[in-house]
Amino acid sequence: MFALRRQLLRPARGTLNALSRRAYSAGRQEPPKMRYFALVAVLGSGAFVLAANSLDRKKPKTEITEEEYEREKQRNKLKYKQGAFGSDEVSVVFVLGGPGAGKGTQCANIVNDFGFVHLSAGDLLREEQKNPDSKYGELIASYIREGKIVPQEITIALLQKAMKQAIADKGITKFLVDGFPRKMDQAIKFEDEVAVSKFTLFFECPEQVMLKRLLERGKSSGRTDDNAESIKKRFRTFEETSMPVVKYFETADKVEKVHCDQPKDKVYQQVRDIFIRKGLDK
Ligand code: C5P
Ligand code: MG
Repeated sequence: MFALRRQLLRPARGTLNALSRRAYSAGRQEPPKMRYFALVAVLGSGAFVLAANSLDRKKPKTEITEEEYEREKQRNKLKYKQGAFGSDEVSVVFVLGGPGAGKGTQCANIVNDFGFVHLSAGDLLREEQKNPDSKYGELIASYIREGKIVPQEITIALLQKAMKQAIADKGITKFLVDGFPRKMDQAIKFEDEVAVSKFTLFFECPEQVMLKRLLERGKSSGRTDDNAESIKKRFRTFEETSMPVVKYFETADKVEKVHCDQPKDKVYQQVRDIFIRKGLDK
């Protein structure tokens, strides 16, 4: 039976081999060695693509599309609700004023004298921007360069996290929230879902004084927005977007003004008096 099959198949195998040899010599088929190399190359490049993909997955995501951002916003809505502080748990003072008005300098004095924690929204955003694991890096960088206000959910989440951390690490519940709220939606969201402010400390300062200070600071600050072009945009954002926040709190009689076109110590005397009058010096 087997012998019969071998006999029947032998001519067929012979024909196939002959055809194959003829095709090869006519250039229609690669030599067996070439086929082997082609197979190795295909498998090799497949493995490379797989490895590259897995590396890609491990790489932190640095950019987020607007669509993804909207989806995340919905998911995070609940989280903020859970993290709210009561008015008796924390004392929050908002610190507002144009860029270069001296908010940071005066906040450092209040920290020294009255034991507040200073949280600068701008500093927290810059820190997040530098964090290689953050997917908001690119987004924050472009808003800051353009002097625009970063979407409030990002800033509020950073502030809330920093507040929780300060309470856990230092047991301090008095907060200077500097450079915030810069837009009405930030004011409303923060007071609804994080904490109600005691008052807003507002630094009034002429634009030409702030411009001079910022250009001077820009020589060494390394900030991408301390240049003439960005400063102009920041001034406009302040007038159009942040001043309405000051007006809003003014109508509620919750604004304390400081005139800051004066030497630093004179400005601090005003600031200090306000905190003592408000009973926040203890
Ligand atoms: O307060 P500072 O000058 O450090 O803020 C720098 C930039 O950070 C602002 O011009 C703005 O782009 C961004 N920012 C924001 N929302 C805040 C505070 C700062 O978008 N509440
Ligand atoms: Mg500042």
